[in-house]
Amino acid sequence: AAPLNPAVLALDWLLGSWESDEPGEGSFPTVPPFRYSETLLFTHVGQPVINFMFNAFHAESKKPLHRECGFIRLQPGTNRVAFIIAQNSGVVEIEEGELTSQQLTLQTHALARTSFAREPHVQQISRLFQLRSDGRLEQTVSMATGDHPLTQHLHITYRRSS
Ligand code: HEM
Repeated sequence: AAPLNPAVLALDWLLGSWESDEPGEGSFPTVPPFRYSETLLFTHVGQPVINFMFNAFHAESKKPLHRECGFIRLQPGTNRVAFIIAQNSGVVEIEEGELTSQQLTLQTHALARTSFAREPHVQQISRLFQLRSDGRLEQTVSMATGDHPLTQHLHITYRRSS
């Protein structure tokens, strides 16, 4: 396998696969609370980029739900990070933010959707990824739609599955 590109060395703590340890919690003012499971995979091929795939499932039925995949880049010589994301819902997005030790804070920098994407349309997303001292990874996602200001939609923790 190719060695990790030094440009993304600061993200090495993400690499590998992760699986929710207990069900994630979904919420939004318009959505009855729900539970889900999710797997994350972060890989690289030696480029100055991390590749990722996030696959979420209904906690009980295991039915596939939300999916995202994309790329992570760091601005050389800085702690600025960019996630380039495609979502199965018909949204593509660039989120930008900061890497501070083992934490990523991100918000939407650009967003587009298919002309026939289902409403309500997401307008803004903000996320926090945090590697906790117990080795678990935590993700919190908030979003704004046309109807609601930035409000939490997701919270989940993962343990390493490889
Ligand atoms: C609902 C966006 C990730 C599960 C929604 C809605 C939006 C949205 C705009 C409709 C809210 C409303 O009706 O007012 C997003 C975005 C995500 C994301 C932008 C990623 C950043 C996820 C994930 C799951 C999930 C990972 C896990 C299963 C649901 C469910 C609903 C919902 C169950 C309610 C039923 C439905 O509208 O399909 N989401 N979502 N979402 N989301 Fe997400």
